[in-house]
Amino acid sequence: MISRCRSCRLGLVVLALGCSKPTTSPGSQSSAPAHAAEPNPAHDGHHHAHHHRFDDAEAWAKQFDDPSRDAWQRPEAVLDHLHLASDAHVADLGAGTGYFTVRIARRVPSGKVLANDVEPDMVRYLGERAAKEGLTNVVPVQGTPSDPALPEAVDVAFMCNVYHHIEDRSGYFQRVGALLRPGGRLVVIDFEKDAPEDAPGPPPAMRVARETLVSELTAVGFELVRSDTELLPHQYIVELRWAP
Ligand SMILES: C[S@@+](CC[C@H](N)C(=O)[O-])C[C@H]1O[C@@H](n2cnc3c(N)ncnc32)[C@H](O)[C@@H]1O
Repeated sequence: MISRCRSCRLGLVVLALGCSKPTTSPGSQSSAPAHAAEPNPAHDGHHHAHHHRFDDAEAWAKQFDDPSRDAWQRPEAVLDHLHLASDAHVADLGAGTGYFTVRIARRVPSGKVLANDVEPDMVRYLGERAAKEGLTNVVPVQGTPSDPALPEAVDVAFMCNVYHHIEDRSGYFQRVGALLRPGGRLVVIDFEKDAPEDAPGPPPAMRVARETLVSELTAVGFELVRSDTELLPHQYIVELRWAP
């Protein structure tokens, strides 16, 4: 509960992005997902079940889309950094409730966003959110834990705060690589391994160091284009091309 929160309001979003599951759902006695600040058993050995833990999109939306997240996630600065062409086709892999999806969609008015998630309730929510926000260039895509299952190739495969959830990263990212158009990029944002204990994101044991991520992805056929550790206070941004 809130009394167990390590820091403050930021901590609610923080731990949500570290992915502790809301323990109540909207419509039940307490619909507020403030208990996201509770300790996170899912990080203590239940990795195999990650894809089952995001099954209440409305509850997660209160956390993923909490405006206080913008202060450290800096979504517009991130998207400026990526220089997306207005007609780019972008996959938002593990899009969740669409925090980045809707912002990307506005930046690619003559392009498209394939908003992928492994969790059916997130996919449902993404479609409803896009319709509500009048974003006709968003296509929700149901993935599986090992396959993004994109219906077509993209210019940019974007992934924020999801990498540490992927179990068979080797197989998954080979599929992603094969789904990049010539000249396409994979962009991965995740939490620094050595971020302070009370920083946003999953507990340190679950974070993947930037060097580890780069070596895993180069091992499956990607080549590092650039990486940034300055733009965001607690996360790196790594950009790679497919060069198998
Ligand atoms: C912490 S949330 C991040 C959501 C969103 N990217 C954001 O930044 O707000 C992690 C999301 O990744 C999804 N996910 C986990 N494993 C996945 C996989 N193998 N393929 C696609 N999505 C996955 C979860 O269902 C969840 O929606």
